[in-house]
Order: sequence, then structure tokens, then C-alpha cells
Amino acid sequence: MNVSRRMFVGTIGLGAAALAGARAMAQPAAKAGAGGPVSISSANGLRATARALEVLKGGGDPLDACVEGVRIVEDDPADNSVGLGGLPNEEGVVELDASVMHGPTHRSGAVAALRNIRNPVLVAREVARRTDHVLLVGEGALRFARRVGFKEEELLTEAARKAWLKWRSELSRDDDWLAEDEFDLGGTDRGEHAGRGEEGIGRARRLAGLGVEFTTGTIHCSSLTAGGDLSGCTSTSGLSWKLPGRVGDSPIIGAGLYCDNGVGSAGATGRGEAVMQVCGARTIVARMEAGDSPTEACLAMLKMIVDRTRVKRLRNAAGRPDFNVTAYALRKDGAHGSASIWSGGQYSVSDAAGDRHEASAYLFEKAG
Ligand code: GLY
Repeated sequence: MNVSRRMFVGTIGLGAAALAGARAMAQPAAKAGAGGPVSISSANGLRATARALEVLKGGGDPLDACVEGVRIVEDDPADNSVGLGGLPNEEGVVELDASVMHGPTHRSGAVAALRNIRNPVLVAREVARRTDHVLLVGEGALRFARRVGFKEEELLTEAARKAWLKWRSELSRDDDWLAEDEFDLGGTDRGEHAGRGEEGIGRARRLAGLGVEFTTGTIHCSSLTAGGDLSGCTSTSGLSWKLPGRVGDSPIIGAGLYCDNGVGSAGATGRGEAVMQVCGARTIVARMEAGDSPTEACLAMLKMIVDRTRVKRLRNAAGRPDFNVTAYALRKDGAHGSASIWSGGQYSVSDAAGDRHEASAYLFEKAG
């Protein structure tokens, strides 16, 4: 599938600023893919794609490949975006979200607001495997996990607890409750309050000040077998300091994850509220089905987010989103791509050429 620059611009209608970033990196991804096996992931998932590729090379199922890879990162207490060591909600409790989608059967499973189980992605796979349901939440998800043999444990590490305590002790304004003058619906104000963050990803920078490393906030992984079967999974501890019970995009099929075995697999990391409101991953797969390259499809979904970020509190002085989202796409022919709202992103790839990070395309250049 060769997409000329003219067609690329016309297809997704990017503005000049967006095009400046997207143009250079979109073209390589427009080439036909080299087939499987291949696995892609968010930047924090290089160990995940390496493991997934091993499973694929051994003739394993594409969903097992994704899950075996992602569980490595869930098990790592040093990654504060997922599983053990994930940053907690505003009450200091770690609540995890995850989903899986199996291309060959078009079956999916997910858990949301799951406490005390370090590998939500494994529980999500069991939901798909053992039940007629797609999504279990909260107490019901925990009871299901117990019944099928998962071990409960404290997921809050010392580093995450210290970061949470510091946030609490500073009575941070960076929480998810809106002040009356920020209410988004109704009234006269409609979110006219200025953005809280600095340009780009203000929350990420503020997290760094709390002594915890900000990663990509979530892990997504998509895999393709040599025979052309696809699967994907997404796992997260969600937004740090979120309201208890808050569910992000990661466990929502069509938002943080979507896979169509005839087309491709896609996922997203970053601000889940934005991804959910444009049905992010489903949008990416639909764009690929309509002829976009993986990178073009990711950029088009991000452009939808930018165009629909209308409340001022979520925009910087230039009117651009004061948050980041990164999207990932793997097409059935093995072509893959990724894009972020803001520059500087990367994604992980493992294939015949080895394990590596590749640059994500982007819409806007981050200042400095
Ligand atoms: N994208 C992860 C979340 O918002 O929870």
C-alpha cells in the first residue's frame, strides 16, 4: 500500500503544525509490511515485545504472546504505570484495568478497578476464556480472580506510597475533582477556566517532582503471527490519584484496545478520558481498513482528540491539549506505526530485525 504525501495529507486533513511532525515519519510506515512474526508495544514494553516474539517464533498463540510479554512489565515494581508498583488512586489504593482481544476468535475479556491482583492482563484473558462476558469490574472482578486461583497481595510499593503521601501532604490542586468554576457541563462557564498544566504534558512533569519516574502510564502490546493472526492487550494502573472506581480506556474494548483479525490491532496510552471519547482503538482499525497506513490511522485518531478537546482547562495557552496520548497500530501485513499528540514519543518493536525502539510520529512539537 503506497500512500503518496498528497494522499496522506488529503486523507487525514492535518493542519500545518501537525504535518510538520507527521510528514517525515509517516512515509516509511506507509510501505507494505514484512509479515509476521512481529510484536509492537508502548515504549515501556521492549521486554514485552522481546518475550512476545519468542512465543510467536515458538508457534504460540498471538494473545498468549502479548500476555506473556506484558506480564513481565506488570511484575516489575519499578514500572509505576502498571501492576505491582502502579501509582494508586486518591485514597492510596492501587486499582488496575486491563483488556485482551484475540483476533482469530474475535473474543475479548477485560477487568476494571481490580485491586490486589498484580497481573490484571492474566485475569482479563481468563474472563475471555472462562466466561461468556467481556468486562468484570471492582469487587466482582476480584471475586472472579480469586475463584480462578489468582493470589491476592498488596500492590502499593514503598516508592508509590511515598509519592502518594507527598501528593496528599501538599494538598495538591492536581486532582480529578473540578472546582465549581471548572464544571464542564451546563451553567455559563463550560470549562472556561485556564488549563492547569504547562504546555504539553504538565501532569507528567509534576509527577517527576514527586520522586517517581513517569513512564507512558500504561502498556499496550499487539502481536502478529507468521500465519497472519493478530491479538492485542492493554494494561494499566490508570491515572495516578484518580477517584476510586475511575475506569480509563485500557479495559474498554474499542478505546484502549481493538483487534480485527482481518485488518489490524491497535491500542493507546495516555489520557484515557480523551481516548474513550473518540473510541480510539476502534477508530484506528477502521482507518486502516479504509486504507490508512498504521501511522496515518494513529494520527487521524489523535487529530480527532485534538479537534474535540474543547474545554479550556484541558488546553494550553495555544489552545492545544495539555495532555498526551500515544497510539499504536499493527496491520495484518506486518506494517506498524505509532503517533503521539506531542513530539518525543517512541514505541517498542520486535521482529526479524531485532528488538528496538522506533520514533512515534506526532502532531505538535513539544517546546524545549
Ligand atoms: N490510558 C490509561 C488510563 O487513562 O487509565
